[in-house]
Amino acid sequence: MQRLATRRKPRRQIVTPEIRSIGILGAGRVGTALARLALAAGYEVRVATARPPHEIALLLEVMAPGAEPLSVEALIATSDIVILALPLSKYRELRPELFAGKIVIDAMNYWPPTDGTIEDFERAASSSEIVQDHLAGARLVRAFNHMGYHEIEQEARPEGDPARRALAVAGNDADARAAVSGFIDRLGYDPIDAGPLMASRNFGVGTTIFGAAFDRTEMAQLLASAHQREAA
Ligand SMILES: NC(=O)c1ccc[n+]([C@@H]2O[C@H](COP(=O)([O-])OP(=O)(O)OC[C@H]3O[C@@H](n4cnc5c(N)ncnc54)[C@H](OP(=O)(O)O)[C@@H]3O)[C@@H](O)[C@H]2O)c1
Repeated sequence: MQRLATRRKPRRQIVTPEIRSIGILGAGRVGTALARLALAAGYEVRVATARPPHEIALLLEVMAPGAEPLSVEALIATSDIVILALPLSKYRELRPELFAGKIVIDAMNYWPPTDGTIEDFERAASSSEIVQDHLAGARLVRAFNHMGYHEIEQEARPEGDPARRALAVAGNDADARAAVSGFIDRLGYDPIDAGPLMASRNFGVGTTIFGAAFDRTEMAQLLASAHQREAA
């Protein structure tokens, strides 16, 4: 008897481009901590703020030696991954056309004491979904937001270290999530894929994950239970 071939839907191959250059928008607490960590991991690092590059050159020499000050336009054009590390209240200053097709990490949180009250974010379950709507062509991935800036360098650990912490990653583009996960891994954290951007509401401000430390098993369980609660 002829056996029926079982037809499985072919799995889409994840394409992870080689990431060499990291552009960071914001040279504050988060921006400079990520710049130092990325430099230590061997990436080329560029930083831009709303000010002209020469105005942040000295700050970078002191706070992130080796990072190159660039204009926002040049940074976005020449970086493989762009990290948003500016106050969320400024997100509308980001020009969507510059970000088309770019892998962008959104590390921003809605924090009314510093951002003021912003109606859009008062209503939103995840600020990243609003940022993605604004930067419609960007391949936005939410990551790094649930960890304090002071921990970013001090908690980084090599792969296999029992104290290595996990960072949640969410975004609608699977290839972008994979590229960001590779970056996170090289910086010293276990990336845990939470799935689409909507899942970022499970590690935003006020959640169990926000501001707490978990290893990869705990993080995966927390994200899975949050997902199940939503689906129920
Ligand atoms: N602090 C934390 O522990 C922590 C942890 C996770 C996530 N976050 C989030 O990360 C973001 C940055 O936090 P932070 O504590 O690093 O803030 P911060 O120290 O106040 O630094 C903000 C930086 O953003 C720059 N900036 C302002 N407008 C800009 C624009 N239009 N384009 C580019 N850069 C711009 C500022 O530069 P100029 O002064 O030159 O304008 C400054 O360098 C926030 O959204 C925050 O919610 C913070």
